[in-house]
Amino acid sequence: MGNLNCFFNPEHIAVVGASRSSEKVGFSILHNLIACGFKGKIYPINPREEEILGLKCYQDIGEIGSSIDLAIVSVPEKHTLKVAKSCGEAGVKGIIVITAGFKEVGGEGARKEEELIDLCRRYHMRMLGPNCVGIIDTHTPVNASFSKGFPKKGNISFISQSGAMLVSIIDWSTYSDLGFSRFISLGNKADLDEIDFIESCTEDPNTNTILVYIEDVADGDRFIRVCSEASKKKPIIVLKSGISAAGAQAASSHTGALAGSNRAYDTAFHQCGAIRVENMDELFDLAKAFATQPLPGGNRVAIVTNAGGPAIVATDAIEERGLAMARFEQDTIAAFREHLPAESNIHNPVDILGDAKHTRYRYALEKVLADKNTDSALVLLTPTAVAEPEETAWAIIDTSRQFPTKPVFAVYMGGGTLKKGRDILTRAAIPTFTFPEPSVRTLEGMIYYSGIKSSIRQEPEYKLDDIDSSQVKSILARALKDNRTALLGHEAARVLNAYGIPSTRVHLATSAEEAGEISDEMGYPVVLKISSPEILHKSDVGGVKINLENRAQVETAYAGVMEEVKSHLPEASIYGIEVSNMAAEGIELIIGLTRDVQFGPLIVFGLGGIYVNLFEDVSFRLASSLTTRKVIEEMISETKAGTLLKGFRGNKPGDMEALMETIARVARLSLDFDNIVEMDINPVRVHVRGVTALDVKITIGGDTGN
Ligand code: COA
Repeated sequence: MGNLNCFFNPEHIAVVGASRSSEKVGFSILHNLIACGFKGKIYPINPREEEILGLKCYQDIGEIGSSIDLAIVSVPEKHTLKVAKSCGEAGVKGIIVITAGFKEVGGEGARKEEELIDLCRRYHMRMLGPNCVGIIDTHTPVNASFSKGFPKKGNISFISQSGAMLVSIIDWSTYSDLGFSRFISLGNKADLDEIDFIESCTEDPNTNTILVYIEDVADGDRFIRVCSEASKKKPIIVLKSGISAAGAQAASSHTGALAGSNRAYDTAFHQCGAIRVENMDELFDLAKAFATQPLPGGNRVAIVTNAGGPAIVATDAIEERGLAMARFEQDTIAAFREHLPAESNIHNPVDILGDAKHTRYRYALEKVLADKNTDSALVLLTPTAVAEPEETAWAIIDTSRQFPTKPVFAVYMGGGTLKKGRDILTRAAIPTFTFPEPSVRTLEGMIYYSGIKSSIRQEPEYKLDDIDSSQVKSILARALKDNRTALLGHEAARVLNAYGIPSTRVHLATSAEEAGEISDEMGYPVVLKISSPEILHKSDVGGVKINLENRAQVETAYAGVMEEVKSHLPEASIYGIEVSNMAAEGIELIIGLTRDVQFGPLIVFGLGGIYVNLFEDVSFRLASSLTTRKVIEEMISETKAGTLLKGFRGNKPGDMEALMETIARVARLSLDFDNIVEMDINPVRVHVRGVTALDVKITIGGDTGN
């Protein structure tokens, strides 16, 4: 998308619906533009006025004569389309439609929004809104919004789908110490959306951290593509509320049931390096940390404290969140032994005791930061009678400046007596907390980002040039033509084979005699499974017999299976019985796929068998990310199945290479065929050498093409 200069660096701005009445939105917008110190030209438009706030007023935008970069529209809904059209005719580059009453009210409003979009397209005009608060850039400066107040200048951009959230944060920012570069209220996202603004803020030299509050992502693929690039340059911290529509969809497979509502968002954010937070506190703690501190080089944290209890709480949080306590060099420990009181704890956490003055803090912090095994430090202070919160604050500030590559956070645990110290720290850009846990959580976010930054979007490593997609296409076309919603077992096995995924050989028999012939040809032992499009969970209705050793057993079992299934489901249409060979021993896993409305195919991996949903030992990734060994290895290692595969308690390890390639192949299959709606390969057996898909269910839908 083109740059959004007309919104952030406009020279000529028109305010359509500017008003003299100070209680009106059109007044606030004009007032805000003037008050923020905007240096370009402002044109109020109001057919009833000659002049507003000292500026000449125009009847219509077409009268102005100069080319207008940005028009802010604050007229009632019934006039908006007409105004937008006159903006288009006047060659306006961008419009901000403040007016409400469009898609958010449904019906006629939604239809009018479509008309508004058409107008923008016709006149090549970009639009923010409708139903929004506007935008602010503190560096330009431009305040094209009806916010109350103007935020402090800084380097954080905040993009929000909720106007209310945005105005609250603007107000809050006026007495917090955080500075902002941009505020963007997305409104209905009829034209420009969060992705356009993430892209624009990534290019903005005045923004170093991007905060996003969203309720949905309309274009999952584009979101991932843009954020993958953006997050390599700047942290993107996302607070996503609301439940994804994917969660509401009925799921017939194990995978679908496991996926749940928020998994796709979690995996998508992880895949593109965006940091997902749970609440506003986390959002701004992280924003503060990214805006003021360097990225940690690793996960080893040192603690300096004047009290044992809080240090234990911090240590627990560090371990729970998968960070590590730094283990100091011998020199550091020797220095502590010599210079700190004998009762001190000289290992991490370094407890310099309740009588510690600022000099002791300075000494200890300097030593731990100088130690090559420390990546970041937390300084804890509790208000003992002899503590020196303010002097200690200066000691922390000076020392942290000596080590500009290592983040330092302060935890001042207490209230009134620590306020001055806390203010000194905050003003000097040291993130300061009241309790240890949020400080560790923030550090974890920074460490997560520095780790993920290096691993986003690598070149695909699995070439997979042996796949036969035309075969899959014809199997799916036939099944869809028969109005079926699931493939039969032997068809599903052929789909896997066409994508290079080994499965047990499967042949359909329509009589006991034919089953016997197939078994003789295949070799014993064999398995029989009922073949019916209406039966997904075959063993539940007596539709499976395993380990059949000879022809007589096969023929008897054939009759037995038919009888039992018919007694359970007399109406089911039965195509016959599938004969397949028994696979070698191995670890039984599940590889499955489901689809998310926004982000497309989602792959699950984990411990297989009938207890999949009970144990939920699974991990998820979007199929589009499963192209490199690193991502697939990480996915496997998140599960206990990953530990089993390494050879647990004397068992032989499973063939990791073959398994990883199988996951890459399933991902590719899901990306190639939209009409494979869900799939469970459960179990897929991983042998010492190779893998075999033992059972596969493929649910289909949509049209017959791919
Ligand atoms: N061109 C220029 N000015 C026009 C006009 C036109 N075609 N039509 C009307 N105006 C003028 C009006 O005369 C009025 O000026 P005045 O005060 O001098 O009479 C001004 O525009 C505003 O019109 P008014 O009818 O007074 O509307 P309003 O200010 O009460 O409401 C909105 C306008 C846009 C604020 C209102 O319709 C709205 O949508 N409110 C909700 C906004 C919102 O919540 N957005 C989302 C935030 S999350």
